[in-house]
Amino acid sequence: MTTEFDEKLNAIREKCLNCNKCPLGATKTKSVFSAGIPNSKIMLIGEAPGYYEDQKGEPFVGKAGQLLDKILASVGFSRERDIYICNTLKCRPPENRDPLPEEKAACREYLDAQLEILQPRIILLCGRIAATSFIDTNLGITKLRGKWYEGPYFSKMMPIFHPSYLLRNDSREKGSPKWLMWQDIKEIRRVYDMLE
Ligand code: URA
Repeated sequence: MTTEFDEKLNAIREKCLNCNKCPLGATKTKSVFSAGIPNSKIMLIGEAPGYYEDQKGEPFVGKAGQLLDKILASVGFSRERDIYICNTLKCRPPENRDPLPEEKAACREYLDAQLEILQPRIILLCGRIAATSFIDTNLGITKLRGKWYEGPYFSKMMPIFHPSYLLRNDSREKGSPKWLMWQDIKEIRRVYDMLE
């Protein structure tokens, strides 16, 4: 059965897939709208599609995505069952460069619509680009991560390290990025389990 909720999401997805509001619409292979289940209480927002995501039309399917799935699985979350995943940009920036402010502004309409339709209770801001799209700060992700912020629609938002950063920092010692991520994901699971 298609609900009003599905219809709204499909309409915005359709618009996004045909978008040419910024030049990335012409250079992408596929736009990458979302993965995971829409009726979830938790949404993860990454940066932008990379090479594999652009090919497949799905977020977080490359190496970083595989690590993300492992991190989620370590506390029993899976994208098939529990979580909705999207990005600040829906099209791949060439050579995976940082999104430009005008690209973020052009694409914001889609992210805002996803948030308005889904109204997740928990939002995970994955990496600096996602975090600073919602939190007005000059602080880096190392300072921002692991703390709860008030998010849209009365949600709780937490910035977390981007899995690409963890791939470049292999140590698991106490205080290392991987160790900190493990603390954060456990805290996220704890708060998720308290949701009604
Ligand atoms: N990195 C991101 O931020 N998003 C993706 O979808 C893939 C890699």
